[in-house]
Amino acid sequence: MILMNDEAKLIDAAREAARKSYSPYSSFPVGAALAFENGDIVTGTNIENASYGLALCAETVAVAKAMDAGTRGGLIAVAVTGPGPEPITPCGRCRQVLNELAQLGGTDPTILCIGPDRTIRLTLSELLPHAFGPAALD
Ligand code: THU
Repeated sequence: MILMNDEAKLIDAAREAARKSYSPYSSFPVGAALAFENGDIVTGTNIENASYGLALCAETVAVAKAMDAGTRGGLIAVAVTGPGPEPITPCGRCRQVLNELAQLGGTDPTILCIGPDRTIRLTLSELLPHAFGPAALD
């Protein structure tokens, strides 16, 4: 469960992350911010490549940063921002990448899809039902 104040901070962090986007090919800057049980926030932005298909999404970059820092769970919320007039939801690959980190800590994070005028609030299990995760390999 994430508190209202913390939610505002998380959204600001995602917007700030999007400012660092490297997206010269799509001109579609995305920001993601992950909130953890201990109060930590980890951000990511999309990083594109001249070989277009190699683009890294903002959410995946954020998960990689968190896991590189040693985090293995405790994910309670994720904010995602795009540049358009409507909120964007994480792509399919990012849902799976988020699910790995979430399942390691046994959480079902709230996904805040932030648009300029409205927010879509979903859980990861709503976005990725019947997910395949680490538990399946036990
Ligand atoms: N993108 C993300 O960063 N996250 C998503 O969930 C959807 C798409 C990026 C990839 C690419 O750099 C740009 O948005 C346009 O697809």
